[in-house]
Amino acid sequence: KKIKIKAPATVANLVCGFDILGLCLSEPYDVMEVSLLDEKKVIIHNEGNSSLPTEPHLNTAGAPLLDMLNEIDGNIGFDVRILKNIKPGSGLGSSAASAAGAVVAANHLLNNKFSKPDLVRFAMSGEKVASGVKHADNIAPVIYGGTTLIRCIFPLDIVQIPAPQLYITVVHPQIEVRTADARQILRKEVQLKDAIKQWGNIAGLVAGLMKSDYDLIGRSLEDTIIEPLRSILIPEFSKIKKQCIEAGALGGGISGSGPSIFMLSKGEATAKEVEKIMQRIYNAISLHHYTYVTSIN
Ligand code: HSE
Repeated sequence: KKIKIKAPATVANLVCGFDILGLCLSEPYDVMEVSLLDEKKVIIHNEGNSSLPTEPHLNTAGAPLLDMLNEIDGNIGFDVRILKNIKPGSGLGSSAASAAGAVVAANHLLNNKFSKPDLVRFAMSGEKVASGVKHADNIAPVIYGGTTLIRCIFPLDIVQIPAPQLYITVVHPQIEVRTADARQILRKEVQLKDAIKQWGNIAGLVAGLMKSDYDLIGRSLEDTIIEPLRSILIPEFSKIKKQCIEAGALGGGISGSGPSIFMLSKGEATAKEVEKIMQRIYNAISLHHYTYVTSIN
């Protein structure tokens, strides 16, 4: 038995919702092929990317599958082929795509033995391998689709947030920011006044998405806790954000732990204009980059 799936990229945090909000993109995506083995083991093949580990317990797709096998009786295992299109260290949920894609595909081969929360639980061990911390804000959108709120991870409580049509423009400058490093630079304590501002923005963003209130969505895409520290790692961050908003984007910021930057727009024409601005700014400093204009998946 064999299955081939698309494992999509994701934007975690959505600016104000550090570790609790994420959305699934239509592209880019990895292609994964998973087949059943009649032995209790996991085999990983990284097609076209030799820098990723193939030892299952060190691989972001392998670790979740080993956890899954621990909860299954009998001699079965998985052979996984991963064709990576989402660059590791891009801030677009590359590790989550592998982790979530692997468990979704495997579960399909097992006739959906496990529930979605089970799959999130398994996939989080892939994030632990990648960044040292379990977080579900990239995994949950891959498994549930659309925009998700992770109200709590222990115990898991995932809420799907309905959203209006939005276009997402993403630029990935060719520098690598490791999530573990981008978490290391964060302050461990937050001032009450900053926390209050953040709570207002998170609530505003969720309300804006649910009410299709584009202005409210735009006003709520603000982060005074994480962004000021992490944006230092991203060339031309402020310039890109400012010019994209002037061109009509609702708002945006760092995608996950960066270095990708994402912007939300109401219309496709604006999203394409935003893409041109991003390209112009990085071309001016000769920084190699990739851009995508995409939608919520
Ligand atoms: N919420 C995580 C972080 C996402 O910002 O560190 C990492 O992709």
